[in-house]
Amino acid sequence: MTKKKINPEISIERLKEISTWVSSVHDLDRLLELIIETATRMMDAKASSLLLLDKKRKKLYFKVATGEKKIDVKKFEIDIGQGIAGYVAEKGEPLLIPDVTSDHRWYKEISESIGFQTQSIACVPMKVNGETIGVVEIIDKTNGAPIEGDDLQVLSAYAELAALAIGNARKIERNRKKIKDLTRELDVKYEIIGESDSLKKVIFDAIKVANSKASTLILGESGTGKELLARLIHRTGSRKEKPMIILNCAALPETLLEDELFGHEKGAYTGAAGRKIGKFELADEGTIFLDEIGEMSPRMQAKLLRILQEGVFYRVGGNTSIPVDVRVISATNRNITEDVAEGRFREDLYYRLNVIEIHMPPLRNRITDIPLLAQHFLDIAKKERGLSKLSISKAALDEMLTYDWPGNVRELKNALERAVVMGNTHEILPQDLPNFSANPKYPGMEIGLTLKEAIDCFKKEFIGLNLRHTGGNRSKAAINMQIQRTYLSRLISKYNVR
Ligand SMILES: Nc1ncnc2c1ncn2[C@@H]1O[C@H](COP(=O)(O)OP(=O)(O)O)[C@@H](O)[C@H]1O
Ligand SMILES: [Mg+2]
Repeated sequence: MTKKKINPEISIERLKEISTWVSSVHDLDRLLELIIETATRMMDAKASSLLLLDKKRKKLYFKVATGEKKIDVKKFEIDIGQGIAGYVAEKGEPLLIPDVTSDHRWYKEISESIGFQTQSIACVPMKVNGETIGVVEIIDKTNGAPIEGDDLQVLSAYAELAALAIGNARKIERNRKKIKDLTRELDVKYEIIGESDSLKKVIFDAIKVANSKASTLILGESGTGKELLARLIHRTGSRKEKPMIILNCAALPETLLEDELFGHEKGAYTGAAGRKIGKFELADEGTIFLDEIGEMSPRMQAKLLRILQEGVFYRVGGNTSIPVDVRVISATNRNITEDVAEGRFREDLYYRLNVIEIHMPPLRNRITDIPLLAQHFLDIAKKERGLSKLSISKAALDEMLTYDWPGNVRELKNALERAVVMGNTHEILPQDLPNFSANPKYPGMEIGLTLKEAIDCFKKEFIGLNLRHTGGNRSKAAINMQIQRTYLSRLISKYNVR
């Protein structure tokens, strides 16, 4: 028998070839096949296989196999500790057996049942971070010569490569899963709940403008969901893969705000130890959300106007202009037109910012959203606290429906969170809610109304309340109020109840 020596130059070339695959082939199964096939060809082996360890079941299974019985062999599984592969998987050490018939570890059932003659075996472990994840083995040379020590070394190199590929693929898979989980979490966190016509219109408008770069100004009371809407515009638009940077203009004094927006050069002022990249630069190709824009000082308004007009800016203390491509969404709860009229807010800046203007309706004008929002916040709280049975009592819901929510959705969210903490674990009751009656809302209770007007006011509210309670079912509402259904219908049109 002639012994076929491995040419080290060829083997290094092959290894190089494979290392480029490791980073370019994205299909792990194909990559492992390539590695094993190359190893087999190079060592002139009769058959070879790569087995992976299923840690939970303590079994090795065939991931890749070559040779004339490669299909048959894949049906087998090997216990850890069983046979040569099982032994190597258990000990984590390479093993070379020139004559299997004289080795007590040889588990001949597989070879015999598929009718594959085996004389010598080399088997090496694959390790990721020191932990054995499987083995690679080769059986005999095609020319009938036994496997030798040199082969074991080459095989080890290939096994290392395969382990590297598997380790990378698993890391990528873990990260992919993590990203998926986090994205799902964020989607829930930033989901906009509500079915009212006014909210649907706002969402419709937001989606319509999302793909343009048009500056968008979102107006509305505090807590109505302006930031949520800004996030929706960003993530439905073409810039969604780029960052959305948020800056609250009311939270910082002027000089700090300037520093945050534009960044600074090293030595721009005492304490500026290095260069700082500002939010505008960070938002390049993405979106910047300027919250509470109405609170911006005149000087900052002028600076902001300049960057919007010219598309370039300077870092504080810098003299090179930096071009940026940023979509600007801003928001305020102030009456901005009044601020413009009275000279507190620059008119030219206002027109730059509100190419598109969206109004978030206050919660009291979209009462139909209240039950949905309440349920949404309850679901989140339930999940966090593992309270699967908790629900909202009808009485508590009625209180929520009649309250006028000056703090809008944010107030509702806080109320729900508090109720979950304060109440029992199966039902939220009116007493779990903040004391809404501390600022009561009695319809008609106003100086200047006649008694009739006040009573009409009350009647209208009362009918509305009952209709909401029955989900708009007039017959049920009439029964509850103990009036005729036809009379209720007349009242509804008389008072123009929605
Ligand atoms: N339609 C909505 N669906 C779900 N959550 C909402 C909705 N509107 C507002 N929220 C929640 O209420 C809170 C206040 O919303 P935010 O967007 O910060 O309001 P604003 O910016 O108008 O003050 C946030 O926790 C937000 O997630
Ligand atoms: Mg806000």
